[in-house]
Amino acid sequence: MTRVIKAAGAAMDGGVGAPMIEVERINSYYGDSHILFDVSMAVHEREVVALLGRNGAGKSTTLKTLAGAVHPRSGTIRFEGAAIEALPSHVIAQRGLQLVPEERRIFGGLSVTENLELAALSAPQPLPLDDIFAIFPRLRERRGSYGRSLSGGEQQMLAIARALIRRPRVILLDEPFEGLAVIIVQNLLEVCRALVAQGQTIVIVEQNVRAALTLAHRTYVLNNGHMVFEGTPEALRAAPDVMDRYLGV
Ligand SMILES: Nc1ncnc2c1ncn2[C@@H]1O[C@H](COP(=O)(O)OP(=O)(O)OP(=O)(O)O)[C@@H](O)[C@H]1O
Ligand SMILES: [Mg+2]
Repeated sequence: MTRVIKAAGAAMDGGVGAPMIEVERINSYYGDSHILFDVSMAVHEREVVALLGRNGAGKSTTLKTLAGAVHPRSGTIRFEGAAIEALPSHVIAQRGLQLVPEERRIFGGLSVTENLELAALSAPQPLPLDDIFAIFPRLRERRGSYGRSLSGGEQQMLAIARALIRRPRVILLDEPFEGLAVIIVQNLLEVCRALVAQGQTIVIVEQNVRAALTLAHRTYVLNNGHMVFEGTPEALRAAPDVMDRYLGV
């Protein structure tokens, strides 16, 4: 097993709370392909955790395993103290673990408002639409437009908004900045910062390492399905070998 480099100074800052997600030695597969090897990680309340790694490292598979879209063959995932690794994805979502997948999965044939209302349907206490539009003013302007007519940035806003309207305990963002213009990335980063200031717990997967590091309290690096680094953004920046070998930055 690959040894995880545990950087010094990986202690939580004062604002971070109790462990919320505890992943212990999960092994995930697609058919016969072994993808995640004894992956362990933790996410604390009000923490932003960045999960980094090259293409194909297993980042999306990790998020899918947390969200129950992939079930690990071994290992445990505890969410707020309860084992969830065998639960169906809709039950996990119901408990407040909300995945915003890479492919966004908004409904092209529905308006912005309809997309949001649909996401809110099965939530016990959805946020009012006005609160969502306060977070994303652009979505208010576009509320009558079909999903398919939105720009990439607007689609990403809508995908995140669909998760937020359900008042998630944790939001899992898979490459939210991918393919977006710098100005839109800045805008989404501002939104994320505001969410963090309100205490939202976030796990973010990003190829845009610099952007992710400006948000994260703690980082993990995956390589070929193995966790190879855990530490603060400062510790990661101070580990050029890790940055170079596993992130190519
Ligand atoms: N549905 C699938 N069936 C079979 N293999 C898959 C499937 N999805 C992903 N894989 C493989 O699993 C490995 C990990 O993929 P994963 O999507 O988790 O990587 P990633 O770190 O998210 O990469 P990227 O940065 O490209 O999104 C890769 O080798 C990929 O080819
Ligand atoms: Mg991916």
